[in-house]
Amino acid sequence: MPIATSSPAAPFQPPSTQGKPEIPEWDIPPATQADVEFAELHTIDLSLMDSEDPKVVDDLVQMVKKAIKEDGFLYVKNYGISVEQLHRQFAIAQYNHRNISEEDQERLLWHPETGVYSGYKRPYGWKREKQALDGIKHFNFYKPEFDDINRIPNCIHPFFDEITAFCNYMSKSVNRRLLTLLSRVLELDDDFIWRTAQSKEGPTGEGYFRHALFQPLASETKELSKGLRMHGHCDFGMLTLLFSVPVSSLQLWGNDEKWRYVKYEPGALVVNLGETLEILSGGHFKATRHRVFEPPEDQRTFERLSLVIFQSSIGDLMMQPAMESPLIQREGFVNYQGCFKEYKRFRDAGMPVPTNRQWREGQIKDGREVTDVVNNQVGKDRVEINGKLFSKREFFGMTVLLPV
Ligand SMILES: [Fe+2]
Repeated sequence: MPIATSSPAAPFQPPSTQGKPEIPEWDIPPATQADVEFAELHTIDLSLMDSEDPKVVDDLVQMVKKAIKEDGFLYVKNYGISVEQLHRQFAIAQYNHRNISEEDQERLLWHPETGVYSGYKRPYGWKREKQALDGIKHFNFYKPEFDDINRIPNCIHPFFDEITAFCNYMSKSVNRRLLTLLSRVLELDDDFIWRTAQSKEGPTGEGYFRHALFQPLASETKELSKGLRMHGHCDFGMLTLLFSVPVSSLQLWGNDEKWRYVKYEPGALVVNLGETLEILSGGHFKATRHRVFEPPEDQRTFERLSLVIFQSSIGDLMMQPAMESPLIQREGFVNYQGCFKEYKRFRDAGMPVPTNRQWREGQIKDGREVTDVVNNQVGKDRVEINGKLFSKREFFGMTVLLPV
């Protein structure tokens, strides 16, 4: 297995804030004091990749392998961005949501029916047209937004260089290092996943950066959604890089089939594995099943600000296992109920599988609202299996079964 010989990763060096308008610091809500059961996660120290001791680096790869197997998820520290630098990005996102003009909300309103989330999401569902109140606002930056400042809200123009630098660092340094570790788990050369599967153009490739704001759950929404803010789902692409925030709402589906909140750790990076990685690894990497749920009682009046970078694979990529992997050659595929199992069923039957772009755009176009009481019931989108509720939908003839 190749061992790190390259020079240590450079830390993030953000553009200067001098001469820019002053903006308020991020109002950080208090962490919950409630007695809730948190997911117990392995923490990966990414700076250990730079160790000169091969044993330390190899232990790190083994730790990643174990974390993926046991948690389906990575919790990462020391990735090169300080807590202060990260909080500056939260301050910019907070400023964006507090100051985006009515005119910009209208002008930059998103169009998910096109298969991308580019632009502004109002707190009324996942379509361009107004749906029931869900209390979730976004601004989503894709390549067209990074290429043209007129496509981002005027209020954050002075900070655009900082947003761009942050996304570039996250994608091309942090993400790339994580893909190196995953390539090593597959016993492939360090650049294998980066080279063959990762989209790389611009600060986020074919993926995107999101400023998300969850308003406190309104009683009218709660009545319809039963506390759910986002359905249980897997991300479609490569790695999703998000950051631990004080308001506990993100939940992971454990191997014991229970939802648990992810605990707040200031500055920690929370990494979901997407479906492309599940297929590429022949099922050895499980796409993380996660949802967003109402927080514990003591946090229900706070807004939850969240920053997320969704890394995407090359859109035209035919999603398939990396058969070059000695791990796959030795141990075969790992089949469980997931995207890879469906993919394999299709391939075994000689049926065509979608490209990653078709897969992600199909699901974006046809997202279901948490407030949709007609479809969110058994007999429609939901099924009960061993006393547990799952959503069951079909895309391109492939079944997507996810815990509710
Ligand atoms: Fe997600």
